[in-house]
Amino acid sequence: MLSHLLHLEGIESIVLESHTRKYIEERIRAGVLEQGTVDLMVNAGVGERLKREGLEHRGIGLRFSGRACRIDFQELIGRTITVYAQQEVIKDLVAARLAAGGQILFEAEAASLAGLDSPEPRIRYRHSGAEAEISCDFIAGCDGFHGVARAAVPKGALTLYERVYPFAWLGILAAAPPSSEEVTYSNHDRGFALSSMRSHELSRLYLQCDPDEDITNWSDVRVWEELHLRLAAQGARELTEGPVLQKGITPMRSFMIEPMQCGNLFLAGDSAHIVPPTGAKGLNLAAADVRVLALGLTEFYRTGRRDLLSKYSAICLRHAWKVQRFSWWMTSMLHQFPDDSGFDRKRQLAELDYLMSSRAAQQSLAENYVGLDVSLNL
Ligand code: DHB
Repeated sequence: MLSHLLHLEGIESIVLESHTRKYIEERIRAGVLEQGTVDLMVNAGVGERLKREGLEHRGIGLRFSGRACRIDFQELIGRTITVYAQQEVIKDLVAARLAAGGQILFEAEAASLAGLDSPEPRIRYRHSGAEAEISCDFIAGCDGFHGVARAAVPKGALTLYERVYPFAWLGILAAAPPSSEEVTYSNHDRGFALSSMRSHELSRLYLQCDPDEDITNWSDVRVWEELHLRLAAQGARELTEGPVLQKGITPMRSFMIEPMQCGNLFLAGDSAHIVPPTGAKGLNLAAADVRVLALGLTEFYRTGRRDLLSKYSAICLRHAWKVQRFSWWMTSMLHQFPDDSGFDRKRQLAELDYLMSSRAAQQSLAENYVGLDVSLNL
């Protein structure tokens, strides 16, 4: 995305992608785009298929205490979300870069960064069995939580903030039509469950499980049984089952570093922050980061000024902390905490009851869910 945004401003970049093109275009990951992310794709000229194939959702479902409720974003704030899989976003962006003659080196593994404080930072990487180096003006560390970019920042220069949750998500992709029209979250005595989709024929479903759960304990039959129990609610349609195409476990953590820049290295997305998945913010937060970075780099190449670049971290962190707060809030409202004395359970149910009785509370959820604007003015 960053490489494409820079290209639109006439700025050259090289993308080092550690995986193959096929791998990144097929890997099942997130699927909910905020309106701002959709606008970014459309305004950057890569939103044609997204507009055609994306499923616009005007709200979400919430289930608790046997009740099936709905929060109507369209009616509350006049904005919506779009279900369009991350790998489809990747396909559109890879195609746009390659069509424009952009350089993406697949299976190129970044090994180390050097000279971050110099005018010519360098990246060493391995490609086609050989070692190579790139000298450049700036490095964007968009290489995820386990990447080399964050590790290249001197230890003392970063402050880490972290919360690990005492549960994980077991997710399946199933060849079954989605059983609810909208993304539906359930707080159930047996644990959290989520019903989502990737298309009219593909369901994406999740169950709260132990963080060290052995996936072999979860046969397809057991997964469906548990989903039926946890998503049941008065008046709700029964789940439609179908062949399970993929099954995996996602750990849950909140993680932030400050600052998100060091000399001429700028960290974006999961290299700088991880949000728990409840609320579907990870991809959208990464998109928000690179939009700010593209604006900062554009200002630099047009005018030589670093006004925006120098504020990159502060601008992104101000937004990211609000997104952390929302993802933490959704997570703590919807999951069962194993160490709970019973107090948290009662508090959660009161929170959900309040939410469904208050337009103000629903509006707050809605504006966070469809995405808060990033303010460039600090
Ligand atoms: C999906 C994932 C989420 O984390 C979420 O909150 C909603 C939907 C999904 O994969 O479809």
